[in-house]
Amino acid sequence: MASITLKNIKKTYDAKHTVIENLNLEIKDKEFMILVGPSGCGKSTTLRMIAGLEEISGGELLIGDRVVNDVAPKDRDIAMVFQSYALYPHMSVYKNMAFALKRKHEKQEEIDRKVHAAAKVLELEEYLNRKPRALSGGQRQRVALGRAMVRQPSVFLLDEPLSNLDAKLRAEMRTQLKKLHQDLQTTFVYVTHDQTEAMTMADRIVVMKDGVIQQVDTPQNLYNHPSNQFVAGFIGTPQMNFIDAKLAAESGRYFVCFDAYRIPLPDRMVKARDLADYTGQTVVLGVRPEDFHGEAEYRLKTQRNLIHLPVDQAEMMGAEIYLYGEIGKTPVVAKIPSAEPVAAGDTAALALDMQAAHLFDKRTGDAITD
Ligand SMILES: Nc1ncnc2c1ncn2[C@@H]1O[C@H](COP(=O)(O)OP(=O)(O)O)[C@@H](O)[C@H]1O
Ligand SMILES: [Mg+2]
Repeated sequence: MASITLKNIKKTYDAKHTVIENLNLEIKDKEFMILVGPSGCGKSTTLRMIAGLEEISGGELLIGDRVVNDVAPKDRDIAMVFQSYALYPHMSVYKNMAFALKRKHEKQEEIDRKVHAAAKVLELEEYLNRKPRALSGGQRQRVALGRAMVRQPSVFLLDEPLSNLDAKLRAEMRTQLKKLHQDLQTTFVYVTHDQTEAMTMADRIVVMKDGVIQQVDTPQNLYNHPSNQFVAGFIGTPQMNFIDAKLAAESGRYFVCFDAYRIPLPDRMVKARDLADYTGQTVVLGVRPEDFHGEAEYRLKTQRNLIHLPVDQAEMMGAEIYLYGEIGKTPVVAKIPSAEPVAAGDTAALALDMQAAHLFDKRTGDAITD
């Protein structure tokens, strides 16, 4: 059983610089959990506390049912993979992978079996005699993974393991890591600043900011139901548009008013929350780029949701075009099918899909309706 529980975890560096105030998190056995957030938000610190590489200043850390605050890293049944690979340059791939097992005085035939099994899964069999310098970045990263795998830990901890790879390789490794997790049936805790990595691989994602967990949820729920403006802006690319709007009420119906527009809120939003407190106030309307629709058919259906975007820039992406412009003074990006004939200089008529839109409290950033 390798669940991981963080209870009221606190971390202070140098007895004064508090990075994490009070962190609570449960990672399930066999889960692929990804911690994501901007640089400096405390992801590595959290991972290193789980690994035992960083002292815990307060609270309790459990692996399975065992409190491990004072257990040495080597006795935690974990293996860590770093961004820098940290391979021994003078040792062959085989020796790099066998190193930890040798140190534990395992039998040579046992070591041999484990190294070959890992090399097979990672497609490294033909490189076992090479030195790390004779390998590509992706192969080196796989050796680093192999070194962790041979130890058969019940938890893998990975800190930005793909950050040193180029974009194409990173995309390939995402698929391989996901498959590796499925094959190994082991708990993975993975740290990255890259939301795409988090979205594509994780069972669940922890979004962090300034040492504080913002939301823990499945990729799909984070995308569709962000609990605040930070999560909404961090997950998804191009980023969600945020438009300041006044909330108006008239005979039981609600509207968001911005620039020259007055767009009715769908029943879904009105039912989800008593909006009376916000009437007459400025709220933040959140619309993902793909929730602007340029198709004539859609526009005709939803004429009350129509806006006109003067297009400053149109970026051809293949299947889609990104349209950049401003509504009032607010920069906006819309993503529409590239079959639509729109170019820079045009004014695009776009209908907002209000069923997929979000409202946030202007002051706190919290979601008013999901
Ligand atoms: N050894 C250390 N001593 C003092 N401060 C540190 C140390 N390691 C990290 N920090 C600080 O803790 C904060 C979180 O760092 P880190 O966990 O590495 O963030 P992330 O991995 O999310 O980029 C940062 O402000 C960083 O400067
Ligand atoms: Mg880090």
